[in-house]
Amino acid sequence: MPLPLVKAIVFDAYGTLLDIRTIDQLLRELFGEKAGNIAAVWRQKQLEYTWLRTLMGRYKNFEAVTRDGLVFACKVAQAELTDAHILQLMEAYDRLLVYEDVRPALDRLKNKYRLAVLSNANPRMLESALAYNEVAEKMELILSADEAKLFKPRPEVYQLAVQKLNLSPEEILFISSNTWDVAGAKSFGLKVAWANRFDGYIEELGFEPDLIIENLEALAGKLDG
Ligand code: LAC
Repeated sequence: MPLPLVKAIVFDAYGTLLDIRTIDQLLRELFGEKAGNIAAVWRQKQLEYTWLRTLMGRYKNFEAVTRDGLVFACKVAQAELTDAHILQLMEAYDRLLVYEDVRPALDRLKNKYRLAVLSNANPRMLESALAYNEVAEKMELILSADEAKLFKPRPEVYQLAVQKLNLSPEEILFISSNTWDVAGAKSFGLKVAWANRFDGYIEELGFEPDLIIENLEALAGKLDG
């Protein structure tokens, strides 16, 4: 096992456990050929707004930021967005599916490690999606940036994991598919594994993951082996 000190594994949620593409079908039904563009701009703006609001000192929770990103994306695509559409799409966010590898990997890992989630999403939104997938009950803790009223990659948010698990940073292995989150967690001082689900590239921020795996099954394999 490459990381002998690790006692807890902490997961990012969106893109790491939860597959955001679950929503693509509904976007196609509502917006036809504009759906692809809307999905891409929506996700980008959702993230940007978390960072911008953190820099501006103007916190709004992830649910609100997600809604605002959708409004912006539809404006750019010149797609009509009704209140009913917003409601439907936000409800779909509560029922995003986990990636296929998630449940079997968690079942393997939970025999050896304490498991937790640390997400930028507010508890209502996060817990809905995790409970819908029967993943919530596999976690010892579900931690939200909402408690700090700041978003990752601010160190205060990663500190929540240290504080609530009562472990040192090097006893925590943080898993994210999001490269900005990998850099943020590593900069804070956690051990970090990058789940490279999207065939991406490490950010030029000066912080590299301790481990790179394709998905969570591969992670379970590495830590078991
Ligand atoms: C999370 C998203 C933003 O923190 O990936 O769960």
